[in-house]
Amino acid sequence: MPTLTEDTQLGGQQLQRVVYTPEEIEVRVRALGEDISRSFTASDRLLLIAFLKGSFLFVADLVRVIDLPLQVDFLVASSYGRDKVSSGDVRLLYDPAASLKDRAVVLVEDIVDSGTTLQRLVPRLEARGPASLDVCTLLHKRIAGAGPEPRWVGFDAPNEFLVGYGLDYAEDFRHLPYIASL
Ligand code: PRP
Repeated sequence: MPTLTEDTQLGGQQLQRVVYTPEEIEVRVRALGEDISRSFTASDRLLLIAFLKGSFLFVADLVRVIDLPLQVDFLVASSYGRDKVSSGDVRLLYDPAASLKDRAVVLVEDIVDSGTTLQRLVPRLEARGPASLDVCTLLHKRIAGAGPEPRWVGFDAPNEFLVGYGLDYAEDFRHLPYIASL
């Protein structure tokens, strides 16, 4: 694992501490995959829709520990840009091509922060008639007000700006194998 010191210079930003190690992430992702595997059957035609870019590593690891036939699609939404605070304006830049109709759909998020992304997008996806629509998020800050409550949560995360394992600050740090605070 690269050291915190080696990674601190990216984007001129200073990483504060490692919040979740690769080993801790692996254990939780495996447990989430096992739980999801127990919750559906092959006849549910499971479809995972991952929110890019933040969940690209999480979904890649998650699909490999789910013991069911499934399909994967992606959704690109963006609300942060170069800011550390959500703009509240959730733009849908790529809409999943797969049909959601009568399927068990699991939305895969890297983090629920303000909750705005889920609040804006879940109703739009529910309108497409899935048999079920659940959210699996790796991190949840538990600060979101109203909005859909994820069925699966990897970690209750501290209210700090987190980067690594897919999460970025101004596009830096996504590649880190651990999650750190900025
Ligand atoms: C981030 C993050 C989540 C969302 C959560 O995405 O990856 O998808 O914001 O924040 P919220 O609960 O306050 O809405 P971002 O818009 O930064 O795009 P990215 O995934 O490409 O980094």
